[in-house]
Parts: sequence; structure tokens; C-alpha cells
Amino acid sequence: MSSIRMLMPFELHKYRDHLLCLGADDRRLRFGAFLDDERIQAFVDGIDLRRTRVLAQMGTDLEVIAAVHISILRGSAVELAFTVDAAYRRAGIGTALMTRAILWSRNRRFTRAFVNYLAENTGMRRLAGRAGMQVVNEAGEMEAFITLPAASLLSYAAEALAESAGFVDFAAKAGVVIQECLDAPVPRALPARRA
Ligand SMILES: CC(C)(COP(=O)(O)OP(=O)(O)OC[C@H]1O[C@@H](n2cnc3c(N)ncnc32)[C@H](O)[C@@H]1OP(=O)(O)O)[C@@H](O)C(=O)NCCC(=O)NCCS
Repeated sequence: MSSIRMLMPFELHKYRDHLLCLGADDRRLRFGAFLDDERIQAFVDGIDLRRTRVLAQMGTDLEVIAAVHISILRGSAVELAFTVDAAYRRAGIGTALMTRAILWSRNRRFTRAFVNYLAENTGMRRLAGRAGMQVVNEAGEMEAFITLPAASLLSYAAEALAESAGFVDFAAKAGVVIQECLDAPVPRALPARRA
């Protein structure tokens, strides 16, 4: 079962930490150019949640291990940008994020979804192809797009179910984290107070 869900505003730091874990090459593939830690921090600080959503897959410690960043463009279109931690790639998570992002977008009456990526990005090319996107090549920059089907009762139900599954997964993982804290041996001496 997929456990992707929408990040809450107060969870955006987890998205930042996920982006900071990307190596130099992946940062270039994600942003089209290398971004250092400071610029990634500034990028996340600058996220305007009126025009952006982040759907994420969490790991066992409730860290973000994969995400799709949905930016609302003019003219009822969205742009999608994907990142999956290197350790979790080629296991279908990118495809699951694509499916959820398309579902989210069509249910909000957006009519087109775009992805921009570098021509060398085989993984993204395959992911876009798998989703049925059409590809336009402009001087080494690829733009893939898909015309979204209209929302239906089924698509609303599918999204509600998927989002609930994401919360159930989150609650289960949170339970384990809390249990681990409760089970942890109590230190004999309290840590020294900070000066
Ligand atoms: C691109 C990316 C999101 C793919 O995520 P993923 O979880 O590995 O994707 P999936 O497992 O769903 O794979 C989707 C398809 O791409 C293929 N694929 C994924 N990575 C690949 C690679 N490096 N080389 C060749 N094919 C690749 C998979 O085999 C699969 O194809 P198939 O269904 O025909 O077998 C991930 O590699 C990533 O985060 N890259 C760095 C950031 C980036 O490039 N973002 C895209 C810019 S928007």
C-alpha cells in the first residue's frame, strides 16, 4: 500500500532535510543546476504554500525519503518535480508519486501537468514515459507534459483513500517511534545542564 501524503506546513523542514541529503549530481538533476546547502535552505524557506504542495513518502523514522513538489502555474497547469533518496530508487516510489500528483492535480481541476528535466536524466525520462507524458526537447532541456482527465467521483474517492492510507502509515510509524522512546533505558545520570 502506498503511504504518500501531503506534508503539513510545519513539516517542510523534513522536505529540506531530504533535499539536503541529495548528492551534487542529483541536486543538478533536480534543480537544473547545482544548489549548495544554503541555496536549498533558501529554496525551502521561499516555498509559498498558496501555490505549492509537497506530497511525500516517509521512512521509518518519519523522515522524508521521497517527494513530489507541485507548483501551480498560470493557466490551470502544474509543474511537478521529483526526488527519491538514492537508497530507495528503482522500487516504484517515483511512479507512485507521479500517480498521486496527477490525481491531486486533476481533482483540483488543473488541466495540464509538466515536468522539466535535463536530457541526460534517464530515470526521469522513463518515469515521464511511464505516465504517458509527451516529451518536447528544447536545446537539451526536456519538457514532458500530460493533459489531465477531468475529476470524477472515483478520482475523489481514490485520493481520499490514498491520503487516509498515508496518515495510517504515518500514525503507525509515529507509534513505533514513541514506543522506542518509552522503551529506551533511562540514563543513570541526567545529562549536564547547558551553560
Ligand atoms: C528520477 C527519479 C525521481 C526516479 O525515481 P524512482 O523511484 O527511481 O522511479 P521508479 O522506481 O518509479 O522508476 C520509474 C522508471 O524509471 C526507470 N529508472 C529509474 N531510474 C533510472 C535510471 N537511473 N536509469 C534508467 N532507468 C531508470 C525505472 O526502471 C522505471 O522504468 P520501468 O518502469 O520502465 O522499469 C529518481 O531517480 C531521482 O530522484 N533522481 C534525482 C532527482 C531527479 O532527477 N529528479 C527529476 C527532475 S524533476
